Amino acid sequence: MTTESLVRTEELRIYFPVRKFFGTVGEVKAVDGVNLSIGRKETVALVGESGCGKTTLGRALLGLVKPKSGKIFFDGTDLTILSERELKLMRRRMGVVFQDPYASLNPSFTVYRIVEEPLVVNKIGSKEERREMVLKALEEVKLNPAEFFASKYPHMLSGGQRQRVAIARAIITKPEFVVTDEPVSMLDASIRVEILLLFREIQKKHGVSFLYITHDLATAKYFSDRIAIMYAGRIVETGPTKAVLSEPLHPYTQALIDAIPDPDPSNRFVMRKIPPGQPPSLVNPPKGCRFHPRCPFFMQGKCDVLEPPMYRVGVERFSACFLHEEKVTIK
Ligand SMILES: Nc1ncnc2c1ncn2[C@@H]1O[C@H](COP(=O)(O)OP(=O)(O)OP(=O)(O)O)[C@@H](O)[C@H]1O
Ligand SMILES: [Mg+2]
Repeated sequence: MTTESLVRTEELRIYFPVRKFFGTVGEVKAVDGVNLSIGRKETVALVGESGCGKTTLGRALLGLVKPKSGKIFFDGTDLTILSERELKLMRRRMGVVFQDPYASLNPSFTVYRIVEEPLVVNKIGSKEERREMVLKALEEVKLNPAEFFASKYPHMLSGGQRQRVAIARAIITKPEFVVTDEPVSMLDASIRVEILLLFREIQKKHGVSFLYITHDLATAKYFSDRIAIMYAGRIVETGPTKAVLSEPLHPYTQALIDAIPDPDPSNRFVMRKIPPGQPPSLVNPPKGCRFHPRCPFFMQGKCDVLEPPMYRVGVERFSACFLHEEKVTIK
């Protein structure tokens, strides 16, 4: 793990009330005791099935969701105790790129206005300075000539071009940390790599830290330094991406990976369409390890009773599974 983390959570819990008629009947435990850190200039992929809490965790790191408990540190400052005003200032140092480039850009704004908006909201620069910054950001995301694209409306652009506009908007305030939530899943396969390469280039040039939210292990492998596997509101495994994908520790990670070797190394890691069984309800998650009802290594009287802690299994390798209890290496 990178020694100095830029973003770090401590036992983070985010619960949403479930309302029925006139009362609250329960809580969706979307994030339930998450410890995650992202180093400076590091890309961490957050991977897991639909509904496991990835987007909620990503939004929390940007200070956009109020946690029930736990802490979120950004460059040493706990976001959970900041006022709205202080949070707003902090958010200047962060950016976000959403999944859907069609829904995330205001259709009645020109590209120029969309990309300029964060500068206006944060009162950054004079009109002339902002113009220079907007054109530079458009060039940086390869929308050339910048002047030409600046005058367009989103509906005049392709999906890939729109996502480039969203990226230009995300980086215009020179953020240190960017959350990208399934940024390429709605794009054609041929464009995905181009967009991921663009993220890499931006990272190299500006030293940005990324949280890359995805359910696609192939792109996670390509784009991330470290990977965090999420299951039903909890992180079950973290480690360097290549090591986790070639030798997954947690039975859930193993279920996600089709380990049958393929002659083409880039095809070796594909997410199985559906791992056997169903993810649990986040209102009443199973006692003990949340994965135990689906786990081929389930140990009765243990996995269904106790919640496994995160074991350190090797250099930078962590797994929240009792199978690794014996293998724990002491620091
Ligand atoms: N604002 C909200 N109010 C109530 N429940 C919510 C809210 N946002 C998320 N949830 C619930 O929290 C759980 C986690 O949702 P989240 O969107 O974080 O999952 P996800 O891993 O991003 O899923 P996907 O891969 O489908 O995007 C889900 O059960 C979802 O219905
Ligand atoms: Mg999501």
